[in-house]
Amino acid sequence: MIKVEKLNKTYQVGDKKIPVLKDISLTITDNEFAVVMGESGCGKSTFLSCISGLSEITSGQILLDDLSLHDKKNKAMEEIRLKKFGFIFQDNYMIDNLTVLENVCMSRLQYDPNAYELGRSLLASMHIEQLADKYPSQVSGGEKQRAAIARAMINQPDILFADEPTASLDHRSASDIMEIFKHLNEQGQCILMVTHSAQIAAYGTRIMIMEDGVFYQDEPLGKDRKANVEKIRDMVKDIL
Ligand SMILES: Nc1ncnc2c1ncn2[C@@H]1O[C@H](COP(=O)(O)OP(=O)(O)OP(=O)(O)O)[C@@H](O)[C@H]1O
Ligand SMILES: [Mg+2]
Repeated sequence: MIKVEKLNKTYQVGDKKIPVLKDISLTITDNEFAVVMGESGCGKSTFLSCISGLSEITSGQILLDDLSLHDKKNKAMEEIRLKKFGFIFQDNYMIDNLTVLENVCMSRLQYDPNAYELGRSLLASMHIEQLADKYPSQVSGGEKQRAAIARAMINQPDILFADEPTASLDHRSASDIMEIFKHLNEQGQCILMVTHSAQIAAYGTRIMIMEDGVFYQDEPLGKDRKANVEKIRDMVKDIL
């Protein structure tokens, strides 16, 4: 469970202060697939990087199972962040001169001699086991994004963070990726995802709409995807 309490994030550019996240409080429970939508520039990526401990926060608290993520006194937190969080971005940054399997397993090799075995089984669950020994330049965008999911899952994270994971994919590949997310969530994986697409958001179990640094709508989603799309379109019609 991740708990956000009075989160504020202000960027400082020169002597100008830019408040981006404003007093956000919410909880994301372990079994949720929460989706964040909102206009470009409203603070979605900033929210993701604060809540996942990648960015400093200005004030407030982020608690992961009652441990404060931004407590600098707690040196173990760095490792906890590495092991408990998985990240997928719009443009997944694969290292070109490592194979797909090596990319996937990299962050686990240092502490687990069986990392490659787990990596292969993750690639198999994404239906790309045949790509294990290829290099990133030899696989398609959709395949690369599947590999990025495998890489994000390699440390068996408590939470998977995904910032526009399907933005650079065609409709078919995007739906495939969302089916994988849905399946992971049904198996208990907590996911927090940002998207601009109602169709993609409709795979979630919760929709959160951000405007100007606050969540002004936050609703559960049902299992009927078509109904979800309608509901989400209605929620965002004034802003997107
Ligand atoms: N490092 C930074 N320094 C200063 N301002 C920043 C920084 N990063 C983001 N911002 C500003 O903060 C605001 C929110 O940015 P953010 O990237 O979180 O938006 P977003 O909702 O993810 O947008 P998009 O949908 O385009 O990805 C924007 O006005 C942006 O210009
Ligand atoms: Mg963004």
